[in-house]
Amino acid sequence: MKKLFAAFVFAALPALGFAAGGNVHLDKVDIDLTDKAAMQDGARTFANYCMGCHSAKFQRYERVADDLGVPHEIMLENLVFSGAKIGDHMKIGMKPDDAKVWFGAAPPDLTLVARVRGNDWLYTYLRSFYADPTRPLGANNKVFPNVGMPNVLVGLQGNQVIGCKQVQVVTDGKKQYDPLTGAPITHEACDQLTVEPNTGTLSEAEFDEKIKNLVTFLAYSANPVKLKSQRIGTYVLLYLAFFFVFAYLLKREYWKDVH
Ligand code: HEC
Repeated sequence: MKKLFAAFVFAALPALGFAAGGNVHLDKVDIDLTDKAAMQDGARTFANYCMGCHSAKFQRYERVADDLGVPHEIMLENLVFSGAKIGDHMKIGMKPDDAKVWFGAAPPDLTLVARVRGNDWLYTYLRSFYADPTRPLGANNKVFPNVGMPNVLVGLQGNQVIGCKQVQVVTDGKKQYDPLTGAPITHEACDQLTVEPNTGTLSEAEFDEKIKNLVTFLAYSANPVKLKSQRIGTYVLLYLAFFFVFAYLLKREYWKDVH
């Protein structure tokens, strides 16, 4: 019976994964948790553009400042707008009940969101808002349909719209070209995102970089001890390798006269 249950749970896992990610294609992001400059930039974006609505209440400003190599005064001056002290948790003033009325859903705490959703999901989600006049706040999201969150980064990214575009046909992961002319084979797809030129302050590449930095910060926040654990892991393995030599010599000594 137990086995049957386990088999059922494992069989259901991929379905659960799907439910979280939807079947939208996610863009891959390669983040580097040792890149402090990236995380500092991400923390700045987070404080400026996200903390109006989202807290990171399991994190303290002080810990973030120390981990990211930001002096406390600079942290307080540039990233703390609520009058909080350096040792305080990164809470916000917005009440979940109010937020629910305003946005239809309360903005969740984001300390651990990178563990829940994954980096690729976050990276794609934050770049997939588009103008949709049928939504109460004028924005929708390709990865999170009918999301309650407004498009808060529109000033940086520019006005993104969804519509039909000719895109290159890809079969088995390979882009298809016409064998005679060498021209790309295209088809019309109607769920394509396009940023209207010159409507944002950042170029597409700069915006992607900004979001990558923000995701790096969120990934750090979800697991601030990750780098430390990896370092300690290395020491543990080195110690075991070192200890093995002596354990082996001792064993040889003990068993020397036993035949
Ligand atoms: C104006 C308020 C507001 C701001 C500012 C805002 N959000 Fe949101 N966010 C929301 C709301 C409301 C939801 C819940 C949406 C829902 O469930 O429909 C949400 C949902 C999310 C989610 C999905 C969480 C989940 O797992 O369901 C993520 C991730 C997120 N926001 C990230 C961000 C980031 C990063 C920023 C800063 C760039 C930001 N938000 C700024 C209101 C906001």
